[in-house]
Amino acid sequence: MSKGNKGKDRREQGDSRSIWIMISAAVVLGIVIIAMAVQLVRLNRQGEQNKSQIKTEASVDQEKKKTKEAEKPAGTKEPEEEKIRVEHIRKDLDPEKPMVALTFDDGPYDRVTNRIVKVLAKHDSRATFFVVGNRVERYADTMKNAYNKGNQIATHTFDHGDLSKMKKKQIRRELKRAFRVMKKINGENPTMLRPPYGNVNDKMRQTIRIPMIYWNVDTEDWASRNKDKILSRCKSIKDGDIVLMHDLYPSTAAAVEKLVPKLRKKGFQLVTVEELFYYKGIDAKGGKVYFNGR
Ligand code: NI
Repeated sequence: MSKGNKGKDRREQGDSRSIWIMISAAVVLGIVIIAMAVQLVRLNRQGEQNKSQIKTEASVDQEKKKTKEAEKPAGTKEPEEEKIRVEHIRKDLDPEKPMVALTFDDGPYDRVTNRIVKVLAKHDSRATFFVVGNRVERYADTMKNAYNKGNQIATHTFDHGDLSKMKKKQIRRELKRAFRVMKKINGENPTMLRPPYGNVNDKMRQTIRIPMIYWNVDTEDWASRNKDKILSRCKSIKDGDIVLMHDLYPSTAAAVEKLVPKLRKKGFQLVTVEELFYYKGIDAKGGKVYFNGR
C-alpha cells in the first residue's frame, strides 16, 4: 500500500468508528429508557396491590373485633390488661447502683401515708402503694398526693377479699370495681395487683390480667407495731428486694422515717416496682407472680 492510500484508509476507519460509537450509544440509551419504563409500571402495580392488601387486613381486624365482642357475655367485661407505664419511670436512675422497692398495703390512710410520702419525697425516693379500693374515695387527697409525687399506685383489690376463694366472675367484679374507683381519681388504671392474704391459685392466674406482686422481705409491721422491730427486719435489704409494709400504723411511718435516709446513705435507690422491673429488665406478665426484682 502507498503512503496516500494509508491516509485515506485511516480517515475512513475513523469515520466508521465514530458512527459505531454513536450507534452503540443510542442502543444503550434505548435500553436504559426501556428498563426505566418497565420499573415504573412494576412500581405502580405493586402500589395498587399493597393498597388492596391493607384493605383486606383492616377488614379482617374488624371481623376479629366483632367476633371477640360477640364471645363476651354482656356485663362481664374483663379488667383491662395494663402494661408498665414507661412515662412514670425516672430516667435518671443508675442501673449499676442497688435498688429496693418499698411497698405499702391496705391504705391509703392520711395519718400514715402522708408521713411516708413526705419522707420519700425528701430523699428523692419513691415507693408502691397497693391501695384498697373501698378506702380510695375517703382518702382521695392522700392517694392523689402520693401519686403526684411519683409514687406508684397499684391495687390491693376493692374489698380486700380473698380472691383465691372466689369464682372467676367474682374476681373480675372485685378488680373491675377497684380499677374504676382508682381511675376516677388518678385518671389511669393500676398496672399491678397484690393479692390480699398473699393467696393465689390457678383460677386467679387465669383470670387476672396484670402481674401479681409479692415480696421477699416481710417486715411483719402489722404484728409487731414496733419501729425498732420493723427496722431490724430491714437490716439485710439487698439489691432487687421487694419489702412488705402497711401504711396503716404510725409505727410503720416512724420506721420508714428512719429507714429511708439509712438506705439512701448505704447507696440504695428507693424505687417503685415498675421502676425496679424496668431497670432489671423484667417483662412482668399478667396473671404471673413476682417476688423480687432479680
Ligand atoms: Ni392486705
